[in-house]
Amino acid sequence: MQTERTNSLSNDLAVEWERIELLGRMLEKSRQGDEISSNSLDRLLHLQVQVEKNRIKGQAWSRGIPTELNNIEKDVLACAMAPEAVPRLGWMFQSLQPGNVQPYPTPALLQELFALTMDEANVLYSAIGDSSPLRQHNLIEVEGVGNDPFSPLRPTSGVTNRLLGRPVPAGNLPGTMMVKIRAQWDDLVLPEDRMAMLREFLLWINHKTTVVEKWGGKDCGGPVALFSGPSGTGKTFAAAVIATELGWPLYRVDLGSLVSKYIGETEKNLNRLFDAAHGQPMILQFDEADSLFSKRGNIKEARDRYANMEVSHLLSRIESHHGPVILTTNLRSHLDAAFARRFQIVVDFPRPDATARKFLWQRLLPPRAPRLPDVDPAFLGASVNLTGGNILNAALHAAYLAAGENQPMGLKQVALAVWREIGKDGRELSSSDLGPLARYLPRRKQCW
Ligand SMILES: Nc1ncnc2c1ncn2[C@@H]1O[C@H](COP(=O)(O)OP(=O)(O)O)[C@@H](O)[C@H]1O
Ligand SMILES: [Mg+2]
Repeated sequence: MQTERTNSLSNDLAVEWERIELLGRMLEKSRQGDEISSNSLDRLLHLQVQVEKNRIKGQAWSRGIPTELNNIEKDVLACAMAPEAVPRLGWMFQSLQPGNVQPYPTPALLQELFALTMDEANVLYSAIGDSSPLRQHNLIEVEGVGNDPFSPLRPTSGVTNRLLGRPVPAGNLPGTMMVKIRAQWDDLVLPEDRMAMLREFLLWINHKTTVVEKWGGKDCGGPVALFSGPSGTGKTFAAAVIATELGWPLYRVDLGSLVSKYIGETEKNLNRLFDAAHGQPMILQFDEADSLFSKRGNIKEARDRYANMEVSHLLSRIESHHGPVILTTNLRSHLDAAFARRFQIVVDFPRPDATARKFLWQRLLPPRAPRLPDVDPAFLGASVNLTGGNILNAALHAAYLAAGENQPMGLKQVALAVWREIGKDGRELSSSDLGPLARYLPRRKQCW
C-alpha cells in the first residue's frame, strides 16, 4: 500500500525533473552559442505536455502541498526541490550559476531557464514574494532579502520528502508529542460494533487511492474520526492500535502550546503544524475537542471572538488536511449534531460492563506477576464499576504493593489498590463502594 502510493508520487514528478534537466542542458548550449536541435525541442514539448497533465491529474502535488499552486509557483517549487530529489540537478544548477556555492537555483537562473519576458519575470517575483502561497505555506525559503535575483530559493525542510512520499523525520512537528504506546487489536476491549467502526476508519485511510483516484470518489480530506466517551475508556489506546496497525506514528497535538496570546500567532502555529503534517504517514490526535467546538457561535466577548476565529481556522485546516485526524472528547453532548456530521466516523466509547471489565483485568494485571488463585478477573470485573484506565492503575498499584511486601498478588493488595484508585477524585468513600471486594480491604487503622 505504502509503496504503491510512494511510486505513484515519484512517477508524477519524474517528468518534472526530466524537463528541468533538459531546460538546463538547453540553456547551457544557448549560452555557448550552440544551436538547439529540433529533437530537443520536440522532446521539451512532449515533456511539457506530460508535466501539465500530471499537474492536473497526478496526485503528488495535491497530496504533498496544502494549497493550490499555479503553474509558475509549481515551476519554482519543482526547481527548488530538484537538487534534493535528483542531486545531479543541483550540480547542474551550480555550473549554470558560477560563483554560487549552493545547489539551489536563484530567481535570475529561473528567469533564464524558462526564458521569461519582463512581464513574466514579474509574475515569478510575486510567486516568491512574502505574501505568496509558497511563502505563506512555508514551502520555500528565500535567503537574504526578498526579491534579490541572486539569492537561492530552497524548499523548507521536509517539503521535498513530502512530495516524494519519503517519510519525514519525526520530531519536526511543532506543538505535538509522540504517543509511544504499542497496542494490538487483541488488547483493545470494546463492543464488537465499535471495533468494526474502528476497522472502517482504517479502510478510509488504506483505500483512499482506490476510492478517490481509481473510482472517482470525492476527496473530502481527512479522514477525521471523533472518539467520545468518559476518561479512561480507551480513546487514546484505540488511536494507538490504529497507529500500530498502520505502522505510522501517532502525534498528540498540544493545543495549549499552539494557542498564543498574540492575535494571529495561533493561526500561524496551526499552519506550521498542518503544513508539516500534510499528506504525511502519521496520525494527529486532538484531545478535548469539545472545548474547541462548544464555543462556536458565542461571540459575546472580544476574547471569545478571537477564540472563535482560531476555532474556525482550526476546523477548516482539519477538514482540508490530507491524513488521518482523531478528535477526542469526554462530553459528546456538548457537540452539536451538524458538527458530528462533518466527521467520517464517530465512535462512542462506553464505560465497560462486567464482562468487558473481566477482559480488562485479564489483560492489565502484569502477566508474569505471581498471583494467588483468588485474584480472579471475572470476580474483579463483577465487583467494582471501573474504567479501563482505572483498572490499569489499580492493577499496577496492586502489583507494586505485592512487590513491596515480597508476596504474590492477592485480593488484599487488589482491594487496597482499587480503593486508592476510586478515592483519587477526592470524594468521600465508604467500603461499600468496593462491593464484594470490601472485605479484603486491610483494617482501617492501617491504611485508610
Ligand atoms: N477499552 C479499552 N481496552 C483496552 N485497554 C483500555 C481500554 N480502556 C482503557 N484501557 C487502558 O487504560 C489506559 C488508559 O486509557 P486511555 O486510552 O488513555 O483512555 P482515554 O484516552 O479514553 O482517556 C490505556 O492505555 C489502556 O491500557
Ligand atoms: Mg486520552
